[in-house]
Amino acid sequence: MQASEHADCFESIDQQALEHFGMTQKQNRLYPACGQRLFPASAMIRRLQRYSESFDRFFSEASLRIDINALPVAAQYKLICSTVIPRPIALVTTWSPSDGHNAAPFSYFNAMGENPPIMVLGIEHRPDSETLKDTGINIRDTGQFVINLVDEPIAEAMSTCAVDFPKGMSEIEAAGLSLMPSECVKPGRVAESPVSYECELMHWLHVSPRRYMAVGKVLMMHVRDGLYDPETGYIDHSKYKPVGRYFGRLYTKEHKVFEMPVPSYEQWLSSDK
Ligand SMILES: Cc1cc2nc3c(=O)[nH]c(=O)nc-3n(C[C@H](O)[C@H](O)[C@H](O)COP(=O)(O)O)c2cc1C
Repeated sequence: MQASEHADCFESIDQQALEHFGMTQKQNRLYPACGQRLFPASAMIRRLQRYSESFDRFFSEASLRIDINALPVAAQYKLICSTVIPRPIALVTTWSPSDGHNAAPFSYFNAMGENPPIMVLGIEHRPDSETLKDTGINIRDTGQFVINLVDEPIAEAMSTCAVDFPKGMSEIEAAGLSLMPSECVKPGRVAESPVSYECELMHWLHVSPRRYMAVGKVLMMHVRDGLYDPETGYIDHSKYKPVGRYFGRLYTKEHKVFEMPVPSYEQWLSSDK
């Protein structure tokens, strides 16, 4: 890539990056009268080229300013989905009086708190039409859904559930999954899932013409036998193998776990950092 291609990025060069190339704040300051840089872009480019060895490193260190709202939707999607990673995956089961059960994966998903336990989903329109995805229609109309978490053994089945099957064809059957009745809501839960949350809709948010958010309150939780550790009150992470969404076709598994306690203020003060 040529340095000149990046001329419009210079606004985002921070002081650290300038120092990296031996430029001082004074060299980079603006002429108060005309608002021009004392160290003009052309000179900056020449200097960058002279420092060709560090050129790649420089651009990897400098931060790009992205006016994300001005980008096309697909570009916004790519940036968000490749930076907020890995995302947990909810295989959401819903039910409708006319079509019965439905299952589809969602990675615009997370837990947002406890007391009450809250789960949030981001649901888009169908890419090819002006209609909401079936999951969205069912949640909006019935106020109920089940979030089934996805681990390694059911990762492929989860992906099958994203296929746009013809009306009347069951994703759950096609994926080789089975349903068990829920206790508090009409949609069943996925029997093979390590953890399921039966949810009741608290808020249905119409964020923009083609995007919605479902905020659900958890009414009941189910955990596969052997995963819950009654001594610690946590799930035993050595047995729980969740799959995370990266972006596009990429997923992540076998997470490396490390320990890092948050120190008290006193501990932080007495540490040698
Ligand atoms: C891993 C994964 C994550 C997905 N996450 C979302 C999401 O967060 N929001 C969304 O609208 N669609 C998402 N999708 C696409 C839907 O699952 C897909 O459009 C599905 O066919 C919708 O089915 P439905 O019409 O039965 O609800 C995702 C697909 C995959 C494979």
